Amino acid sequence: MAAELRLHWQGEEKGLFAVMARDELYAEHIDPLVREHRDLEALLGAVDLADPADQDRVRTAVFDLHEHIAKEEDGLFPASLTTLSGDEWDASMRAWHAAHPGETMIGE
Ligand SMILES: [Fe+2]
Repeated sequence: MAAELRLHWQGEEKGLFAVMARDELYAEHIDPLVREHRDLEALLGAVDLADPADQDRVRTAVFDLHEHIAKEEDGLFPASLTTLSGDEWDASMRAWHAAHPGETMIGE
C-alpha cells in the first residue's frame, strides 16, 4: 500500500498539484492534501500491523483516505477540467508517467 501510494503521490504532487498550486485559490486546498499524504506516509512507514493500536490507526487512516480522495475527486479534479491549459495538462501527464514508468493511463 505504501509503495503504491508513494508513486501515486509523486505523480499527483509533481503533476496536477504543482500545476494547480500556481493559483493561490487552489494552493490553499492543495497544501492540506499534501500534508495528508505526508501524514499517511509517516504512519505507513512506522506502523506495526501486529500491534492492535496500530491496526486501529490504519483503519482510521483508511477512512481518512476515503475523505481525502473525495476532496480530490469532488473538488480539485473537476476544477482542473476547466482550469488547466493544454500545456499544463501535458506537464501533469509527464509527471504521472515519470512516477509510473512503463504504465499507461486508461484510454492511452
Ligand atoms: Fe491525494
